[in-house]
Amino acid sequence: MTFALIIFLLIATTSCSRVTAAATSSWSLLQSNIGITAMHMQLLPNDRVLIYDRTDFGASNLSLPDGKCRVDPYDYVLKKDCTAHSIEYDVASNSFRPLMVQTDVWCSSGSLMTDGSLIQTGGFNDGDHVVRVFNSCDACDWIEIKSALVKRRWYASNHLLPGGRQIIIGGRRQYNYEFYPKTSTSEKAYSLPFLVQTNDPKLENNLYPFVFLYPDGKLFIFANNRAILFDYSRNKVLRTYPEIPGGDPRNYPSTGSAVLLPMRFREGGVAVIEVLVCGGAPKGAFVNAQNGTFDGALKTCGRIKVSDPNPQWVMETMPLARVMGDMLLLPSGDVLLINGGSAGTAGWEYGRDPVLNPVIYKPDNPLGDRFEVQTASTIPRMYHSTALLIRDGRVLVGGSNPHIYYNFTDVLYPTELRLEAFLPSYLDPHCSGLRPQITPDSQTQFGYGDRVVIRFRVVDRLDPDSVSVTMVSPSFNTHSFSMNQRLLILEGGNTTVIGKSKYQVIVRAPPSSNVAPGRYYLLFVVHRQVPSEGIWVKIS
Ligand SMILES: *[C@@H]1O[C@H](CO)[C@@H](O)[C@H](O)[C@H]1NC(C)=O
Ligand SMILES: *[C@@H]1O[C@H](CO)[C@@H](O)[C@H](O)[C@H]1NC(C)=O
Ligand SMILES: *[C@@H]1O[C@H](CO)[C@@H](O)[C@H](O)[C@H]1NC(C)=O
Ligand SMILES: *[C@@H]1O[C@H](CO)[C@@H](O)[C@H](O)[C@H]1NC(C)=O
Repeated sequence: MTFALIIFLLIATTSCSRVTAAATSSWSLLQSNIGITAMHMQLLPNDRVLIYDRTDFGASNLSLPDGKCRVDPYDYVLKKDCTAHSIEYDVASNSFRPLMVQTDVWCSSGSLMTDGSLIQTGGFNDGDHVVRVFNSCDACDWIEIKSALVKRRWYASNHLLPGGRQIIIGGRRQYNYEFYPKTSTSEKAYSLPFLVQTNDPKLENNLYPFVFLYPDGKLFIFANNRAILFDYSRNKVLRTYPEIPGGDPRNYPSTGSAVLLPMRFREGGVAVIEVLVCGGAPKGAFVNAQNGTFDGALKTCGRIKVSDPNPQWVMETMPLARVMGDMLLLPSGDVLLINGGSAGTAGWEYGRDPVLNPVIYKPDNPLGDRFEVQTASTIPRMYHSTALLIRDGRVLVGGSNPHIYYNFTDVLYPTELRLEAFLPSYLDPHCSGLRPQITPDSQTQFGYGDRVVIRFRVVDRLDPDSVSVTMVSPSFNTHSFSMNQRLLILEGGNTTVIGKSKYQVIVRAPPSSNVAPGRYYLLFVVHRQVPSEGIWVKIS
């Protein structure tokens, strides 16, 4: 006999206008079938979203164009496959086109580069040493570079570095890192014992480590249940941080998620540097899932001021336990927790009880008053699901396939081909009067430390004291981690009236490429916590 525990959730509402109408979050179905399951996603600077799964799922539900087929003697499932495993989704027209991937991209990683191209690294089988480039253009397709990696990279994490290269860290049975592009053909991988120390050989609870570029150019690397500050240029651990209280693992397959909290500047530097790690599955959950017991997911988040002389984790309790959730930085500066389940772990068939309600975390609220439950979706987003911020402030949600193949019937959580958007409450029509609209006479290219002039309109009366300008780096999302994700709240914010309902705000660009590696960012004007649509800016 089963007992169903029914939990009534209070859906958070935000008061958005002066008439105190309630603003709520909502969902919209964008596509009922994009033909593939969205396992990896990246927003490109032309507002297209690159999506791909893996080549050895068997046939997908989308044919390659013009009768094209991929012939791959190494593929485990289909030696000749005439279906697509990658698409380019065009946000503006809500349409997509199939792309051709030649080798297996399963559980890989990547990073948007300075020029706006995506460099994707590794995968499985014949794809594990391959680097693939996708440029932003209307007819672009994948370009593959064989044997471009020194080590196989499967479940690795990447980050764009200040010099314009990316670092690729770890992966299955890889306790090392390498860079791409290489400075010379002889450039090797460098060992990283931290990945051995945090690895339980049976469980591998440190895959897809959480990697953040620290604002002094070093890397904060979290794996399993603890973190280091790492100088990759000297292969030196600079600091070790305490174990997260409770000691439960937070990385794949106990998949939690993490973000570097929004960064504010003070006198040209970042004021406080904080990391938030949420959810995951308790110790032993993976073995138990293999044995058919699905342990409840972790309900805790740990927040740490990594810049403190004596940093300590502060634990917080989420309203909903969550494993395989995604954490996204919204342009308003809030953190969104979305997707995942409330029992089991990552891995084929190991997740249970979808968590349909996203939760917002407000980092500046007092402790105990930071979480707000949002409107539920109707679609479970379990293992191999994704979420991504797009320019207009919506969050694209796709994927979920906990099966080795595409299985649509007689399975728990069938392979999911639907693409949805989550609309945070700031997109509620009640907020539209407050929403800034950035005008084309704003600056879109600037250098470090530059004075940046942004102009915008607001329909309702402006509250000049609640205007801020934020910059978000579009990230590479897979397996509940958004690589390269950072949000900068720019210094300044002196708002002046320059016309009827038209304003100008002057801010200072980030001080250095350590804080903001040269690349495309989305810039938003936020007024009373309601962000404008973003504009693409490039810092160099
Ligand atoms: C996908 O393709 C399979 C096999 O052709 C078909 O049975 C199934 O209905 C399709 N599913 C969707 C959602 O299109
Ligand atoms: C899992 O099941 C196997 C086979 O029944 C058993 O030998 C093993 O002890 C179980 N492991 C755990 C952690 O329960
Ligand atoms: C999924 O489909 C494949 C191929 O059709 C089949 O062999 C496999 O048993 C199915 N998986 C599940 C979990 O039903
Ligand atoms: C804000 O901008 C106005 C107009 O440019 C200027 O007169 C004023 O001094 C500025 N205030 C601050 C605090 O920078």
